Amino acid sequence: MSDDQHSFEDLHFDPAPALSGEVPGPRSRAMLAEQDELESSARSYPLSVPVAIEAGRGATMRDVDGNTFIDFFGGAGVLNVGHGHPVVLRAAAEQEKRLVHALDFPTSPKLRLMRKLKTLLPGALRESARFHFGGPTGSDAVEAALKLTRAHTGREAVVAFQGSYHGMTSGALSVTSDTGFGGPAASPVHFMPYPYCYRCPLGLKPDSCEMACAHLLDTSLEDPHSGIPKPAAVLIEPIQGEGGTIVPPDGYLAEVRRITRKHDVPLICDEIQTGFGRTGTFFACEHDGVTPDVMTLSKALGGIGYPISCIAYDAQLDGWRPGAHIGTFRGHQVAMAAGLAAIELMQEVNLAGHAATLGELTLGLLRDAQEALPSVGDVRGRGLMIGIELVKDRDTREPWPEMATQIRTECFRKGVIIEVGGHFGNVARFLPPLVITRELLLTGVEIFIESVRAAEEALARPSALVAG
Ligand SMILES: Cc1ncc(COP(=O)(O)O)c(C=O)c1O
Repeated sequence: MSDDQHSFEDLHFDPAPALSGEVPGPRSRAMLAEQDELESSARSYPLSVPVAIEAGRGATMRDVDGNTFIDFFGGAGVLNVGHGHPVVLRAAAEQEKRLVHALDFPTSPKLRLMRKLKTLLPGALRESARFHFGGPTGSDAVEAALKLTRAHTGREAVVAFQGSYHGMTSGALSVTSDTGFGGPAASPVHFMPYPYCYRCPLGLKPDSCEMACAHLLDTSLEDPHSGIPKPAAVLIEPIQGEGGTIVPPDGYLAEVRRITRKHDVPLICDEIQTGFGRTGTFFACEHDGVTPDVMTLSKALGGIGYPISCIAYDAQLDGWRPGAHIGTFRGHQVAMAAGLAAIELMQEVNLAGHAATLGELTLGLLRDAQEALPSVGDVRGRGLMIGIELVKDRDTREPWPEMATQIRTECFRKGVIIEVGGHFGNVARFLPPLVITRELLLTGVEIFIESVRAAEEALARPSALVAG
């Protein structure tokens, strides 16, 4: 894909990063103060990355003081084709003049989007898929997937995974493992261990475990005394995102597919964060050759940030009654037209291939740098979904969340925006727009590495700490 690099070059603010002084600048500070007066105490991002954003282009963002940042966050995995891609903007503007809101009536943008998506789905779904559009967020797609599989099987229980993140609405929250969000709710959800090999929940080693965690799933579904009734679905992220960019070993997802088939349990793959080229293939489940029964899609589905979500599923599950899952904003025509334009673009420029190449490059650079950075315990990822796990000690692997937040602050002060996640809040995460150029990426990675060095120094000398 490096030959196609030039097609991405004009998409970004240039130069980047470019800071005119200390950040946050005076305008950002004033707007953050006003936000503090007006907005809920539940807001989160601006508390850790204190900036007021004015504009975005490609893999860069400009704040209200005129500072330009490299965006390694990509709207939490939304902006695969970058901020304001001109081709997508044009498609959205044309659609906006024609029709914006259409509930679930058939329209040309919707039919074309479904037809296009169908050609991209894995395996048999390419032949058999049906789509359902509900509310415009990923959480709603998760709700729909749970409702569909419950309606189809007549079962209530669901198996999800430790470290999962599936959203904030009640059903989606029930399958989200982080108790800090106020869940899991009182619904029959059972959390199985995910193959988090750096911290194996079963205390095993990846070279000798023989995927014991998958075996546990198998026996838990088999054994009438496991405490887990036969579930309506097994719901899994092919790579856990918010959980800390946890990449399962090759073959794990295929094993989950085999086990769910054996027990006649529908498999839902949540591709909300991993989809649309993010991990180097169009969908992450393709890496293991897996075809789920249901896929949840959102985030990059709306092109450049228009809200939309849907589920794609095997037609055999399609026994819903009319109106079984509805929502006023389930027919956002601009989002559909933008999504279609973005998908066509992704195919045209082989964006997934670009992500795969740049992802390998990034992992290589980070792993080379790891030797000299004692706080970097693990570097992992696939495509441009990358996580760096920070630890106090490489032998004990004690999580170091303060290091992760300090690195985020150092990166921000140097003009790169990253996110932090993970079970212990100790994983620095990269989810840059996939249209990022090699040059911007290399600059961002270099700044990240410098930031780790600076954060290690600062935490060694707490008096040198910069305000977060
Ligand atoms: C894998 C996954 N599923 C579901 C969601 C929820 O999507 P939304 O925030 O749009 O409701 C997210 C959001 O980060 C996600 O990463």
